[in-house]
Amino acid sequence: MLGSKRILLIIGGGIAAYKSLDLIRRLRERGASVRAILTRAGAEFVTPLSVSSLTGDKVYQDLFSLTDEAEMGHIQLSRDADLLVVAPATADLIAKMATGRADDLASTALLATDKPVLIAPAMNVRMWLHPATQRNIAQLQTDRVSLVGPNDGDMACGEFGPGRMAEPLEIVAAVEAAFGAPRLLDGISALVTAGPTLEPIDPVRFISNRSSGKQGYAIAGALAGLGAKTTLVSGPTSLATPQGVNRIAVETAHEMLAACEGALPTDVAVCAAAVADWRIDHTANQKIKKTAGGLPSLKLIENPDILHTLATRGTSRPRLVIGFAAETEKVVEHAKAKRAKKGCDWIVANDVSPATGVMGGDENTVHIVSAAGVETWPKLAKRDVAAKLAQKIAAHLKGAAA
Ligand code: CTP
Repeated sequence: MLGSKRILLIIGGGIAAYKSLDLIRRLRERGASVRAILTRAGAEFVTPLSVSSLTGDKVYQDLFSLTDEAEMGHIQLSRDADLLVVAPATADLIAKMATGRADDLASTALLATDKPVLIAPAMNVRMWLHPATQRNIAQLQTDRVSLVGPNDGDMACGEFGPGRMAEPLEIVAAVEAAFGAPRLLDGISALVTAGPTLEPIDPVRFISNRSSGKQGYAIAGALAGLGAKTTLVSGPTSLATPQGVNRIAVETAHEMLAACEGALPTDVAVCAAAVADWRIDHTANQKIKKTAGGLPSLKLIENPDILHTLATRGTSRPRLVIGFAAETEKVVEHAKAKRAKKGCDWIVANDVSPATGVMGGDENTVHIVSAAGVETWPKLAKRDVAAKLAQKIAAHLKGAAA
């Protein structure tokens, strides 16, 4: 919670500026008041009206505005805040900060402040990796400016790599950390599985499934955001590792199980991976060739059940074991049976029928099945399902410890 904290948000000019609108909402939801400076370039991406509607305040844009200076001078603007957040922090804004330039309202406020500053860089991967930017970042770190992100991932410019602005909830977590807010999962360790597994047929072929890993990655990020020491054991995905998460990349179910067992003991385990139920009995060492008149036959054998293994581990069982149930019919009924069969504490059940768009999509409607009964959550963005689940995990673990 950020009750009564005053944040001066500086929105630079980058495509990620749209995420700053969501950031304002997230900060205000937590009780912070947000005042915004929109740079000239920032105003090319989001309008002053959108920013002002979300902050509930006027937007500051011009260093030489007589009315602005009369109402609140730029010095007072930066002193009045408890924290300055620059999101997106463009290469240009970072360069100005590193060299102490003050040629517009944003850079002047940043130079005039005596308050802590947090930046969320966002730029093209080559701009981020350029020695000049890296030099500037090193300088800012020496100047005690805090950083959140950038994340790896696909970029609006079509390239891949570090440069994407951190997600709004990651920035919120960094803001909370900057205030030293007690984090609900400090001292707690978490294990999350995510993504598909990939089971080889021969050196070039495999069987797998369509899991995107989005829900599991969001959960790992949300747990880490609340302070949990989080290990994410992931099958192949194209997702960026969430901030503060230790990711172990695996391919097969066997590798996933070994990595999970290696990560124990943990307080909580969340099995969100779509583990392939079967693997090929004998993987061919060489590529299987077409032979005249014959089709290869593949014998499948069952993979280890990671959730069941973790849930029935006796003394090294995590205190809270959570599984997922992806169903296409009788969702709650099947989830209840699955909870009993797997021996886990909670099942997060969702309907993955093609019409729901859950597989690969960004939204999810889930039911939490536990010994206490069934809780149905409204349709939410996967990152909000993750945030709500992380809060519920925190309430459960801290309640149990009390
Ligand atoms: N799971 C696992 N290891 C497996 C199979 C599943 O850890 N080998 C976990 C998943 O991560 C998920 C839960 O078990 O948390 C549900 O998996 P699911 O495949 O939906 O259930 P099954 O037991 O395979 O049942 P069915 O295929 O009959 O629905």
